Amino acid sequence: MTDVQFTPRVFSGIKPSGGLTLGNYLGAIKRWVAMQDEATENIYCAVDMHAVTVWQDPAALRQGTREIAAGLLAAGIDPGRSILFNQSRVHQHAELAWVFNCVARVGWMTRMTQFKDKAGANSEKASLGLYAYPSLMAADILLYHGTHVPVGEDQKQHVELTRDIAAKFNHDYGVDFFPLTQPVIEGPGTRVMNLRDGSKKMSKSGDSDMERINMLDDADTIAKKFKKAKTDPAPLPETVDGLTDRAEAKNLVDIYAGLTDQTAEAVIADYAGAGWGTFKPALADLAVSKLAPVSDEMKRLLNDPAEIDRTLEQGADKARDIAAPILDRTYEIVGFLSS
Ligand code: TRP
Repeated sequence: MTDVQFTPRVFSGIKPSGGLTLGNYLGAIKRWVAMQDEATENIYCAVDMHAVTVWQDPAALRQGTREIAAGLLAAGIDPGRSILFNQSRVHQHAELAWVFNCVARVGWMTRMTQFKDKAGANSEKASLGLYAYPSLMAADILLYHGTHVPVGEDQKQHVELTRDIAAKFNHDYGVDFFPLTQPVIEGPGTRVMNLRDGSKKMSKSGDSDMERINMLDDADTIAKKFKKAKTDPAPLPETVDGLTDRAEAKNLVDIYAGLTDQTAEAVIADYAGAGWGTFKPALADLAVSKLAPVSDEMKRLLNDPAEIDRTLEQGADKARDIAAPILDRTYEIVGFLSS
């Protein structure tokens, strides 16, 4: 439907609700770093306004935002090549989200599975922001005419909703203004699951710290968490097919594969028949050796929060340069008078 050519532009975000985990690192950050070498403009955002859709302690939110910035920088996001900022510093996100709140339909929001999961049985008590969350996410992306959004499988529905909002806006106002964004879904090997329950994603906000590896965990903690990770009694299988219906075993193999940039097949080829007493310590050593350089650099950066804040502010300036004309044009299309 759209014949306007949009420059390829990548946008993605991480919520600063708690610290960064191995899941963020293998599932998102490593890929974002690699995407800097592709012919795209890359915009990466700590989405603090999304975080407050559920309660956040203000000091923890500040710390979480800086930790995301430090993690991205330590992993290789280059602020000279990519735009790195925190969402609330670019006020256009909230303004475009309001316009999209008036484009999106209540029925679309009601279908969002993440809202149902997060609000649970007590959805009447959820914040209005949690309900409107996908509309703000659409604004994040479309404020930059983002064409490609690397996200996990769980965010695919939100990117589809972003397309629906763009299409309805373009249709209602008779314009070809917003692109139809493509989700770039991570492969199965990059989806890191909870160490205590292989059916759930590794989350920074889950109840127990034993279920996740934090980027800032020390070597002993990492070893202990892998040692205590839930598994089944059977040894590692001869082929990857043998991991079917063994969610926890599969997760540990996938983490090993993600850390070494190999396939699960290659890991199984090396460890076929091995018991957990062999595999878990090997995995822990590997994780420590891969994460230590990143976490050491994160700690160094976090020692100077003012410098992180300056980097984020410079990123916000660049983000605003792109966002402001797009929001201005949106307001004009909608019929808001400007001075
Ligand atoms: N909803 C995403 C998550 O929970 C975070 C996010 C907010 C995002 N805005 C975004 C991701 C825009 C990609 C693009 O993981």
